[in-house]
Amino acid sequence: KILANTLFLGKDVIYLPDCHSTNQLAMEMLKDKKVAEGSVVITDHQTKGKGQRGNTWESQEGKNLTFSIILMPRFLDAMDQFYLNMVVSISILEAIDDIIAGLKVKWPNDIIHQYDGKIAGILIENIISQSKIESAVIGIGLNVNQRYFQTETATSLSNLSGFDFDKHAIFEKLIQKLEFHYLELKKGNRKSIKDQYLKNMYRYHEMGDFEDKEKFKGKILGVKEDGRLIIEKDTGSQNYYAFKEVKFL
Ligand code: BTN
Repeated sequence: KILANTLFLGKDVIYLPDCHSTNQLAMEMLKDKKVAEGSVVITDHQTKGKGQRGNTWESQEGKNLTFSIILMPRFLDAMDQFYLNMVVSISILEAIDDIIAGLKVKWPNDIIHQYDGKIAGILIENIISQSKIESAVIGIGLNVNQRYFQTETATSLSNLSGFDFDKHAIFEKLIQKLEFHYLELKKGNRKSIKDQYLKNMYRYHEMGDFEDKEKFKGKILGVKEDGRLIIEKDTGSQNYYAFKEVKFL
């Protein structure tokens, strides 16, 4: 089905009832080179859905959105790749924030309910050439109508609201938001993207518990250009953390 309300995103949607991983498939398509920017691979069932940190992504057949988008953000330096993460995070939030209140983005890019678990995950795989992002596969898993999860911290829109949703309508809205914010980034409107990300960030400017090499109290001051998290410890020191170097407790 072709999406009417976008310029390039989702003009080419490849639907597969089953596949191993839409991210992996999209990466393979990129190697074949004949793929247009904005193409989307979507499935009802992944047999080997990939999560961050080498985890698997749990998603019950037919219930949720699991898809990958191919972008070619050659205007973006490899060093600035976190802007793409921010674009995707704020787009997901905007696509669902009229359904549920209290959604936040937990750095770097988990979409969570502030009290009630993770609702969406993002896995971005970049192909870098001459310090530019030649192409990027944006994998999104958004839990819509699944009620029971093996993963303790996972939840869904239907769990949080008590209702079931039309996942195709949510998909279309999300694609529109993604195109809008991606073009915003392409135009160089970086400040607006970062502001929106910080505005919706979980535990931003709140004192809380973290762990690096040891447990500590601190508050998030922001993110660096390269995506590192800035935390001020209660001892007064400022620290920068790359992905995996700090845990929220
Ligand atoms: C995370 O661990 O939070 C990231 C999860 C990303 C899951 C999505 S589902 C569609 C796409 N294909 C994959 O294999 N993974 C991503």
